[in-house]
Amino acid sequence: MEKKRVFFKEAIKNIKTSGTITPSSKYLATKMLKSIDFKQANVIVEYGAGNGIFTRKLLKKLNKDAILLCFEINEEFYKHLKTIKDDRLFVYQESCEHIKQICQQHDIKEVDCIVSSLPLTNIPNQISQKILSESFDILKKEGTFIQYQYSLSYHKKLKKIYPKVTLNFEVRNVPPAFIYYCKKY
Ligand SMILES: C[S@@+](CC[C@H](N)C(=O)[O-])C[C@H]1O[C@@H](n2cnc3c(N)ncnc32)[C@H](O)[C@@H]1O
Repeated sequence: MEKKRVFFKEAIKNIKTSGTITPSSKYLATKMLKSIDFKQANVIVEYGAGNGIFTRKLLKKLNKDAILLCFEINEEFYKHLKTIKDDRLFVYQESCEHIKQICQQHDIKEVDCIVSSLPLTNIPNQISQKILSESFDILKKEGTFIQYQYSLSYHKKLKKIYPKVTLNFEVRNVPPAFIYYCKKY
């Protein structure tokens, strides 16, 4: 309950960038992550980690030699994420626009999966396009870009970038959410 209260306080102060007032439910988190092949994944990236609902679940399933790169621009959420002690986790208080640069720092050429909670509709078009195209470039051929949204407003845009976009829906979330699984082929 305390975690939810802290999230609410921070999210309401920064409603444009948070895009919500409540963290995602465990049901949405489970559905978002269920298609990831954790046995094969070496590098997973998380966009907009918030207070870490997906981060903790990802770390539970991640291979011992794999890594998780997390992006979160909000300072309070960033500080909270930094309290998660796990050598496989790298948290950046950076916008996801800098995905390529951060990957370069780790000498990473491609990533297996990107899990995004970004409120895309609230992000200026030029920036969201940069994030989406850089994500496509850095994603390995068999990789998946997974995004949730409270509407279908990005369905067409994602289909323009990814040849295969499948949809799912989770009603047990406030508000209920659509999940996009985007594949390169
Ligand atoms: C809808 S919240 C999701 C939080 C959490 N993942 C969840 O599902 O409960 C979106 C998060 O994205 C972060 N965010 C927004 N724009 C961002 C950007 N350009 N780069 C990194 N994080 C961003 C916000 O600060 C916020 O914590």
